[in-house]
Amino acid sequence: MDNGEFEMRRLLAKLVNGGISRREFAERALGMGFGLVTAESILDTVAAGQDRKKRAAVARETEAFRAEPFSQKTPYEQWMAQERVPIHTGYFVANVRRLEVKPWERVGASGAFIDLTGAEGTDGAYVLDLDPGKSTKPQRYLFEEAVYVLDGEGETSVWHEGRSKHTFKWKKGSMFSPPLNVWRQHTSRGKAKARLISFTDLPLMMDIFHSAEFLFNNDFVFRDRYNYQPDYFTVNESKLKGGGSAATFGEEERAAVRILDTGLVPDVNALELYEAKSRGAKNKSIEMVFSDNVLQTHISEFETGSYKRAHRHGPGSHVLVLNGIGYTLAWKEPVKYSEAPKDRQVRVDWTDGTLLVPPDRWFHQHFNTGENSAKYMAATWIGGKYFVKGMGGGGRTHRLNTVSVHQGGNMIDYADEDPMVRAIFEEETRKHGVRVRMPDRTKGEPHEKH
Ligand SMILES: [Fe+2]
Repeated sequence: MDNGEFEMRRLLAKLVNGGISRREFAERALGMGFGLVTAESILDTVAAGQDRKKRAAVARETEAFRAEPFSQKTPYEQWMAQERVPIHTGYFVANVRRLEVKPWERVGASGAFIDLTGAEGTDGAYVLDLDPGKSTKPQRYLFEEAVYVLDGEGETSVWHEGRSKHTFKWKKGSMFSPPLNVWRQHTSRGKAKARLISFTDLPLMMDIFHSAEFLFNNDFVFRDRYNYQPDYFTVNESKLKGGGSAATFGEEERAAVRILDTGLVPDVNALELYEAKSRGAKNKSIEMVFSDNVLQTHISEFETGSYKRAHRHGPGSHVLVLNGIGYTLAWKEPVKYSEAPKDRQVRVDWTDGTLLVPPDRWFHQHFNTGENSAKYMAATWIGGKYFVKGMGGGGRTHRLNTVSVHQGGNMIDYADEDPMVRAIFEEETRKHGVRVRMPDRTKGEPHEKH
């Protein structure tokens, strides 16, 4: 073995053991006369080997999970239970910022699951807490997620196995999605704790494959979704694409609307919204597709003293209130709210941080009783970029949100609603000293379908 070879072996051993940085290794290899391409290919090979070690460790953990067959519990419910963090259920969560979390071994942070009735196992959510300076364990998984930053600031690195890290920053109000099945690691960089909430289709994926190892230890790389595009986690003009979907905008509104198609939005509260009067008299919206996901998101804002039209669709629409004060009524049938059986009526009073999922195909209607506009973010099977018919009629039922029940749609126009709905709203706004800014109910708001 000559001196050069010996020196290279020594350097490699140091690199593998973490004794020198990748940059130091490259500099010293170049100084020894090795070319840049050789040095980089050695670094890539070493990184791939290290990723394989991590993957083997993950596999050891996930292999412990086996879904019990012939059970009344779904594979996802069984998997959640063995993760040993709190599981929050019901129709809604009053405030996701106050949700109890516990240390979560897999993630290396504290967390909790949110498994609400209206999701019907098509999608779900989890929250994560990260103390200042702390990072989650690197993870890779075969389900989509869209992350909203409830509090704090930090950064996330994503990477394909054996390749370099792509890092982007986030803060309270940011939304982003590590693309499907990339490695990801979140780090809190603020002075206070960061809390993230993530909306995922893991329930569906786990129920179908009932294999944690397949979902958490899968080599497939979706280069079609993400391949290190430098501007992937930013917003610019090129990210505004197509037109809005029929779930959110009326036919005449759609021509003027663009969908935001990106990996990250720095602050969803600062986005410019489009008129969406088909959904409500004083309503504006923007749809957002994160990282080529099928599970889509949108923002909706409606003015003080106004409320949206009632509508219904399939399961899984997670509505997270970003600001404002109001309430939501949900009822199964019929069109007239007061005629619905009492056990098929739900009222949720909400404010910043409330999360609700309207039950499958129940009518639901959002009311703003505060002095300012109210805004929410929804993660739904809306079928904007990719039209999916599964998920309890997902995209198909959502496309009927802006079409009246009289025309085979899923929307109750103001003129058709139960007079009690307006009476409750007038009472609630009076309590808050807020003026009602709604059109005369009997005339209704001018609508393209009327
Ligand atoms: Fe809805």
